[in-house]
Amino acid sequence: MRRKKIAVMGIGYVGLSFAAVLSNCGYKVFAFDIDEQKVDLLNKGKAFFSEKGLDKLIASGVKKGNLIGTTDYEKYLKNADIIFSCVGTPDLPDGSSDLSFVFDVARIVSQLAKDGVVYVQKSTVPVGTGREVMKVVSQENPKLKFSYVSNPEFLSEGSSVYDTFMTDRVVLGSDDEKAIEYVLGLYKSIQECSSIVNLKDVSDFAHIYRAKQNGNEIGFKEVKTSLESAELIKVTSNALLSLKISFANSIAILCDEVGADINEVMDGVGMDKRIGRSFLYAGRGYGGGCFPKDVSGLLSVAKKHKINLPIMEASVSVNEHMPELIIDKVKKKLGSLEGEKVALLGLSFKPGTSDVRRSPALKLAELFVKEGCFVCAYDPEAMDEAKKELGDSVIFMSSTKEAISECDFVCIATEWPEFSEFDFSKITIKKKLIVDCQNRLDKEKVKKQGFNYIGVGRA
Ligand SMILES: NC(=O)c1ccc[n+]([C@@H]2O[C@H](COP(=O)([O-])OP(=O)(O)OC[C@H]3O[C@@H](n4cnc5c(N)ncnc54)[C@H](O)[C@@H]3O)[C@@H](O)[C@H]2O)c1
Repeated sequence: MRRKKIAVMGIGYVGLSFAAVLSNCGYKVFAFDIDEQKVDLLNKGKAFFSEKGLDKLIASGVKKGNLIGTTDYEKYLKNADIIFSCVGTPDLPDGSSDLSFVFDVARIVSQLAKDGVVYVQKSTVPVGTGREVMKVVSQENPKLKFSYVSNPEFLSEGSSVYDTFMTDRVVLGSDDEKAIEYVLGLYKSIQECSSIVNLKDVSDFAHIYRAKQNGNEIGFKEVKTSLESAELIKVTSNALLSLKISFANSIAILCDEVGADINEVMDGVGMDKRIGRSFLYAGRGYGGGCFPKDVSGLLSVAKKHKINLPIMEASVSVNEHMPELIIDKVKKKLGSLEGEKVALLGLSFKPGTSDVRRSPALKLAELFVKEGCFVCAYDPEAMDEAKKELGDSVIFMSSTKEAISECDFVCIATEWPEFSEFDFSKITIKKKLIVDCQNRLDKEKVKKQGFNYIGVGRA
């Protein structure tokens, strides 16, 4: 059978991970972006961000000649049997989604794709966008025969390679059942793909290998729906996850008042099978390139349809308040923060990634600076990205130890394991205070070591 040729449009966090995996499963992948730097890096076998195992997959795809980074649509797009659109959908100042990149791609597809192409939307878009995209393609090129499928992406940064190989569900929404089966076949082939087994000696892939050995192949659930339902499944999933975090934070605020510990409370609550433990973690709130914009996008679509979603408005408001709440707790303990030197550990929006988009850790940095602190910041992976955002407002250090040296207090803003494993008792922390924004330290142990401890909901 002829190998399918695949176009991935937009090689950001989603597109690059997907393209790298496909190219290691025997497909010829044309990876398009308008950002030449990203394309050049890909062709050199590298990702523009840090993600476990990704560089190795890109290098192997490029070496095999299966992964071609390009900005040249005219030359390559006509070859594609299937097109995955993975461009960004950031939010606009009014909270609605900026769909300009999505429609740019639609116009390119209309002009350059071949007849019979399957056009798959992986970007997170507001419900109703798919119909608009189909309309644009047909208006721009009435002769083009194409099928359109909504296939929202659920990967998490920090585990994007694993999530792509071992996805737990594939959602496909379309009017065209044949196109749904076509895309489904591609996903099955990814899960059957054995090339990863050849990489079993590489530690980055060991967990994927183990999962496959345990018979987890083709483990995903197929969700075949209408176009509109598929679009809404994605946004609703992220809205509910963000809601769980804000819910945990709301209860954490009460815990502080009544002397309870949110970790103990949620451990107990999460044991109920109907509820589960995931995402019920209190802390400095959610961030990243998805939750904030997906929630504001949902609110915006609801507003367009004259529907109120007060529960989601509350979630946003709780989330935005969390970094300030933490600063207030520190001020309550230390008084004015003017001139204090804080070791700020963690800058990415979560561990396992270098992504700092909407990172609450950056918001904490800004708030500490506003209070007059000297901020000595360190992150294992996100220093370059954070420098672009924070400039010279903070001092960037080269290790956890260096950041803590001579500091007045420590603030762990992102729960990288190396911070919770660090032995703080071996270093002088002048004001004897550790702020554990993500509640990952053993509170009693920290107190026994003679430190004051501030968590979120861990009175
Ligand atoms: N990052 C995640 O964890 C994640 C998870 C699930 C879903 N999503 C969704 O997937 C989509 C992509 O997210 P991302 O984080 O990868 O975004 P991103 O901003 O990292 O990447 C988007 C890329 O698209 C490129 N682009 C813009 N216009 C283009 C064009 N005309 N042709 C080719 N490339 C073009 C940009 O240069 C950029 O490199 C978004 O809708 C997002 O909500 C993201």
